[in-house]
Amino acid sequence: MIVLGIESTAHTFSASVLDDDKVLSLENSMYTTSEGGLIPRKIIEHHLEGFNEVISSALKTAKKRIKDVELISFSQSPGIGSVLQIGAVIARSLAVNNNIPIVGVNHCIAHLEIARLLTGFKDPVMLYTSGANTQIIAFQEGKYRVFGETLDMGVGNFLDHFGRLLSIGFPAGKRIEELAIKGSKYVELPYTVKGMDVMFGGLFTNLKEKINKYSVEDLCYSVQETVFAQLVEVSERALAHCQKNELVATGGVACNKRLQEMCKVMCDERGARFKPLPSKYSVDNAAMIAWTGLLKFSAQGADKLEDTVINQRTRTEQVEVSWR
Ligand code: FE2
Repeated sequence: MIVLGIESTAHTFSASVLDDDKVLSLENSMYTTSEGGLIPRKIIEHHLEGFNEVISSALKTAKKRIKDVELISFSQSPGIGSVLQIGAVIARSLAVNNNIPIVGVNHCIAHLEIARLLTGFKDPVMLYTSGANTQIIAFQEGKYRVFGETLDMGVGNFLDHFGRLLSIGFPAGKRIEELAIKGSKYVELPYTVKGMDVMFGGLFTNLKEKINKYSVEDLCYSVQETVFAQLVEVSERALAHCQKNELVATGGVACNKRLQEMCKVMCDERGARFKPLPSKYSVDNAAMIAWTGLLKFSAQGADKLEDTVINQRTRTEQVEVSWR
């Protein structure tokens, strides 16, 4: 079955064409800045200017035309409302105008489903680390459930805030990773883990006072060691609590090689398995939306058009998982 996926929850507008579980194309256009942070109004402009080209080139690379598409899947929740709306409107107009069935999917669950497809893991715990989201999710008693999460800001958001203190632009994670490799001296920083939850706000406040007292490289190194240790600690607790032995890390921050290394060490020590994802499937991407749409469609058919309105606040555990 030929599926067109459309992702539009935050800074990335993405389109992807799948033929069943085979990714034929994946095109991304990401809003970035050289300095400053993420501005919702600018993201809307970016997506509206670029969506046509992204979708056209995804179809072209896949050697398909819109009339070949048998299912349209789009990210329906959660995300920035006005940005989600763009993807939903485009998906609905393509579906209605070309008489193609449509399904809406949950973005967080889509991260987990593409991770299952690519790793071959049957039932992993997922460490989901992006700008807005930092959650530990696993499947239990018929639903994907959040076992731990940030109590204040997402880890990617925290890294971007830290990046603004350093004036290194948005998103900041990649640059912080490069600087951290050159650092070696650990600067003592606040470390906040509560059960399976994490917090980063206190750390950010603390860093504001330290910013001119230590080298940027040592601070980046220390920030990574601290926040990644928090994430790995709660991941390990979730593995133990859920009695699972597979871990996947996904989201933009999970592209970081040091975080992947720390996850691997922890899993090796407890006899669990960890597999990193290729970066293009770890960041926000439409292949995961297309794949999850196909799973949902196979289990329950298309959505009614009136059920394709966006919901920016849908929680992971509210989603009916008909395909597992
Ligand atoms: Fe995401």
